[in-house]
Amino acid sequence: MSSASKKLYIKTYGCQMNVYDSGRMAEILAPLGYTQGTTPEGADMVILNTCHIREKAAEKVFSDLGRLRPLQAMKKDGGGRMILAVAGCVGQAEGSEILRRAPFVDIVLGPQTYHRLPEMVARLARENGHVLDTDFPAEEKFDSLPLPSSAQGVSAFLSVQEGCDKFCSFCVVPYTRGAEFSRPAAAILAEAKSLVALGAREITLLGQNVNAYHGAAPDGGSWGLGQLIRALAETPGLLRLRYTTSHPIDVDDALIAAHREIPRLMPFLHLPVQSGSDRVLAAMNRHHRLDEYRRTLERLRSARSDIAFSSDFIVGFPGESESDFAATLALVREVGYAQAYSFAYSPRPGTPAASMPGQIPEPERARRLELLQAEIVASQQRFNAASIGRTLEVLFEKPGRHAGQLSGRSPYLQAVHAEVPPSLLGTLADVRVVATGGLNSLSGHVIREVTA
Ligand code: SAH
Ligand code: SF4
Ligand code: F3S
Repeated sequence: MSSASKKLYIKTYGCQMNVYDSGRMAEILAPLGYTQGTTPEGADMVILNTCHIREKAAEKVFSDLGRLRPLQAMKKDGGGRMILAVAGCVGQAEGSEILRRAPFVDIVLGPQTYHRLPEMVARLARENGHVLDTDFPAEEKFDSLPLPSSAQGVSAFLSVQEGCDKFCSFCVVPYTRGAEFSRPAAAILAEAKSLVALGAREITLLGQNVNAYHGAAPDGGSWGLGQLIRALAETPGLLRLRYTTSHPIDVDDALIAAHREIPRLMPFLHLPVQSGSDRVLAAMNRHHRLDEYRRTLERLRSARSDIAFSSDFIVGFPGESESDFAATLALVREVGYAQAYSFAYSPRPGTPAASMPGQIPEPERARRLELLQAEIVASQQRFNAASIGRTLEVLFEKPGRHAGQLSGRSPYLQAVHAEVPPSLLGTLADVRVVATGGLNSLSGHVIREVTA
């Protein structure tokens, strides 16, 4: 292996798991001499770590490839080589179609094969042509990934579960990430320790269906997410735990108990419901009704009275009527989300919903999205305004907007700015909130430093 310095550029699209995966790819390529840069110009290798969830995300990859092509040609004119790789969910879903549409791409790989990147690069050097590697399953990847070696910062991601067996009728994830797979708890505990040693004070556990986690326990048997969180909370130096993304049907008693009993588990839960209409939920194959979702929120609230919720919504799903849509708006008002993401339905090739009757024209989907987003913004503003005068525990993560400030996060992921010395970076403090800034930011004064 050559250790001469080479420049690597990775562009990440999509979800937090892709952010985690990009970090791991950079670590795997480091022993080959690759150092990550911030621009593609002159790079020896460019990886697009892609997302297939909606049409726009997937198409963006091809326009970005078009822009990279001249940079690749320039590199060649200078006697060098820019290896172009398409990784992630578009790589998995479209495979050889990418090589057909963009033959100047050198490597296409999926989310479960990136541990083999060094091999793929070596193969390219040996042979002419392309490398296409989009195998499953996830298990082999996790077995061959080393412990993390580079700092992610005060707040770090850790993948614990990957893939999905739910097959919501609109979603590509079960096809791109494959079947559900949970990492053994011992490997997760070891990775958490390494992350803390590298400076992490907060860890967000990641999974497409993170609360379906059912990994091998260190003492034999198997743990659910509640038990895993309980064990991780004992990691010395770790101040906060979060997890995302959850499915409402997998919120079990042990997870609710974890919220009740583990102060380090943040009282904030991203629990996507997608729609406020039972009819639409059934067509989406979400496996639960609204009354069950409401009951789950209630149980979580009685376990932890200060808990707040976030969600994902899809509007304009095939067959969604005006009254179904109105029910979604009403649900947003009723729950009082701290924040939420909303999307216009995007038909995805190969998913059942794409061929359902009652497809809703794009302008109508856009109209509903605009109305829903206004409702969500209002909810978020109410939630933030209610923070004024409250004392929130803040974990300081980075320098703030102005000199002398640090910026951190409240338990509810609100950005909080305060005038504090840089020595508080990576520590917790109680902050009295005095004002709201933009849509998701607060400012306040530290009233007490919290010793862990
Ligand atoms: N459970 C997953 C969800 C991934 S997709 C996770 O861990 O993140 C994130 C969100 O994208 C979904 O909750 C859904 O609201 C939205 N989404 C998925 N497929 C979509 C489609 N075909 N059109 C529009 N939005 C979609
Ligand atoms: Fe997609 Fe549904 Fe699985 Fe989430 S639970 S990843 S929305 S299929
Ligand atoms: Fe996108 Fe794949 Fe994540 S489709 S949302 S990058 S799991």
